[in-house]
Amino acid sequence: MTNKLNVLSDSALMAADTAHHLHPFTDYKALAAEGSRVIVRAEGCTLWDSQGNAILDGMAGLWCVNIGYGREELADVAARQMRELPYYNTFFKTTTRPATELATRLAELTPPGLEHVFFANSGSEANDTIVRMVRRYWQLHGQPERNVIISREYAYHGSTLVGASLGGMSAMHSQTGLPLPGFEHIRPPYYLRDGGNMTPQEFGVAAAQALEERILALGPERVAAFIAEPIQGAGGVIVPPDSYFPEIQRICREYGILLIADEVICGFGRTGNWFGSETFGIEPDLMTLAKGLSSGYLPISAVMVGDRVARTLIDEGGEFFHGFTYSGHPVACAVALENLRIMQDEGLVERVRDDIGPYFQDRLRELADHPLVGEVRGVGLIAGVELVRDKDGPVFFQPEGRVGTICRDHCFRNNVIMRAVRDGMVISPPLVISHAEVDRLVETARRCFDLTQADIGL
Ligand SMILES: Cc1ncc(COP(=O)(O)O)c(C=O)c1O
Repeated sequence: MTNKLNVLSDSALMAADTAHHLHPFTDYKALAAEGSRVIVRAEGCTLWDSQGNAILDGMAGLWCVNIGYGREELADVAARQMRELPYYNTFFKTTTRPATELATRLAELTPPGLEHVFFANSGSEANDTIVRMVRRYWQLHGQPERNVIISREYAYHGSTLVGASLGGMSAMHSQTGLPLPGFEHIRPPYYLRDGGNMTPQEFGVAAAQALEERILALGPERVAAFIAEPIQGAGGVIVPPDSYFPEIQRICREYGILLIADEVICGFGRTGNWFGSETFGIEPDLMTLAKGLSSGYLPISAVMVGDRVARTLIDEGGEFFHGFTYSGHPVACAVALENLRIMQDEGLVERVRDDIGPYFQDRLRELADHPLVGEVRGVGLIAGVELVRDKDGPVFFQPEGRVGTICRDHCFRNNVIMRAVRDGMVISPPLVISHAEVDRLVETARRCFDLTQADIGL
């Protein structure tokens, strides 16, 4: 029997989508008015929609398709694993070969001291897992009142109740009565907005000291952990000054607080090292991995657990009452292993560090002379280009987000996908992007900035 959706015309598919499909992070009425774009195929860094348009994916899906689309090797491995063992769980003293092999591989790849892995299916689930581990850790140390986790404004750590509570997105909080108790937020190291007359280095230290101030205000005996993305991705690609994380690290050590690096975006080569923690000199106790772990080919995430927490859970914890039906799913693990093999064999991380990353950053910085561009920032293959009303100040647009959306829509119409965060464009292409594709991306961005400028009459 054929699936009837396979034979629906484009317009019928769009009507069916509007009738039945509630998309994530979407204004449903607006989508119903416009209809969805239907993506039908992809190869390398290019997507094709049902109208036959070839679209350059400057976002690697949602910051995740690191090895690019259309890799037969991953399809072959998935098919092989599905035939051999499509599913078995890792509860009840059982494992599968791919789950254990991937755990071993991740212990090798991640920085020293992170030897244990807990598998989940999404970044959100991995961060929920971390919160449960952190609270359990302090409980086992006889300090159950140490249950507050400090995060940052504009952080994104997922969309479950705990993920959104960890995150610092005020719109997400206000819709559903979040954050839950026990989650606090400090200001991010957002130099363009808050740097004032300080140098970036002075500002980095000052922004980090917001953590110490909050710890002292709450009482150090209540603070369990601090969580940070090395670069805040969905918050607008906020890149910390070099002085920021050393001061964060000092503060966490001084007060005995666990440090969590959310590497869901920065992990797996994005910043020119395997992990953003290496780029910024962070030594985390726990690490969140997802997205690039499988290049998005199948859902899988992982928590890397450092010795300090792992030893407590293992030696003193008894049964840890937590897990998911699909923790360590054998097909997802086999695909992730193949993805990591490709990244290593093709030297994709080194390519970002030495070749395409610097080229991408240099070319993007040429946009800094555009009248709308307040700042170009980024590392490796992640960047943000923030648009402002006036470079002097800078003066930001009001209402926030309108100009970014206009620009994002121009990019869409010009067949390049970038995403708007407030009034900045964020870019995070597959690690296999070519020099010619970077050129096209930057040239399209300039054209779309011109079109945006004309639209707003500046
Ligand atoms: C840094 C970070 N953490 C966590 C998440 C949540 O991941 P997921 O959407 O897989 O739940 C995201 C998603 O974009 C992310 O960027």
